[in-house]
Amino acid sequence: MSYHKPVLLEESVDGLNIQPSGIYVDVTFGGGGHSREILSRLGPQGKLFAFDQDKDALVNKIDDERFTLINENFRFIKRFLRFYGVKKVDGILGDFGVSSHQFDVAERGFSTRFESKLDMRMNQQSSLSAFEVVNNYEEKQLKAVLFNYGELRNAPKIARTIVTARKEGEIATSERLKEILQPFLPMGKEHKILAQIYQAIRIEVNQEIEALKEFLLQTEGLLKPGGRLSLISYHSLEDRLVKRYIRSGLFEGEPEKDFYGNISVPFQKVGKMIVPSSEEIKRNNRARSARLRIAERLA
Ligand SMILES: C[S@@+](CC[C@H](N)C(=O)[O-])C[C@H]1O[C@@H](n2cnc3c(N)ncnc32)[C@H](O)[C@@H]1O
Repeated sequence: MSYHKPVLLEESVDGLNIQPSGIYVDVTFGGGGHSREILSRLGPQGKLFAFDQDKDALVNKIDDERFTLINENFRFIKRFLRFYGVKKVDGILGDFGVSSHQFDVAERGFSTRFESKLDMRMNQQSSLSAFEVVNNYEEKQLKAVLFNYGELRNAPKIARTIVTARKEGEIATSERLKEILQPFLPMGKEHKILAQIYQAIRIEVNQEIEALKEFLLQTEGLLKPGGRLSLISYHSLEDRLVKRYIRSGLFEGEPEKDFYGNISVPFQKVGKMIVPSSEEIKRNNRARSARLRIAERLA
């Protein structure tokens, strides 16, 4: 089984407008599909740094002297690039979320399809797992996770049900969790709702929103003028942050105007949002929710 089929491969790498001698970063290496495409467009002087917090991704490391793989969270992008003597780069690509490998290995706990322990950690060293969230979060916290990250309107009832059930003993496996959630999984919608609940827990376990925000805020200082951001999101919470950040350099509100009423923003968007073609979705169903946004750093 392949590790991961890259999504919007040509479109996202085209979006970087690659300069053959430039320095590029792929912050979500995974199976290395995007990294390989970037390397194929770089000349002998070019450089590519890639990040992935999952140690499983290390098996895909590319043997190329222009390439460096960093097994860390991209929320520390600036710190680790500095460690390699890099202060400014020409382009950054992000293909967020989970790889097919993570979904397809039962014991990682990401997929609703398998029986497994509650885990869902992208970084296997992290102390926060799905087990912690489900068993130790207060009802209020659980409700917020389900509501904010799963966009579940009945989050309060689901949280209450989990808290009541765990009084009878810890909820350690996906089967037990599914059993408890049964009243919220009507026939026909079972998979969709369970997937929303899993998504919410996964975003919390991996602190995905915090990591994305911290990462985005560093891109402004890292990119050279004319440097590009090419970012693929898989759910509306991520895409909203990316869109707002590209528009204004902020996640909320509007940028301040100067004395003359001008606003200064760090990026200019390049083209419109891109989604996969129907052919790509036919070939790779996991591409179906992808949304690509491209931006250029202004001088
Ligand atoms: C959708 S996959 C990327 C697939 C890759 N573009 C390819 O073509 O094979 C996302 C990858 O990013 C990694 N990842 C997600 N969030 C991360 C973070 N905050 N820091 C580092 N890696 C992260 C995941 O472990 C996963 O391997």
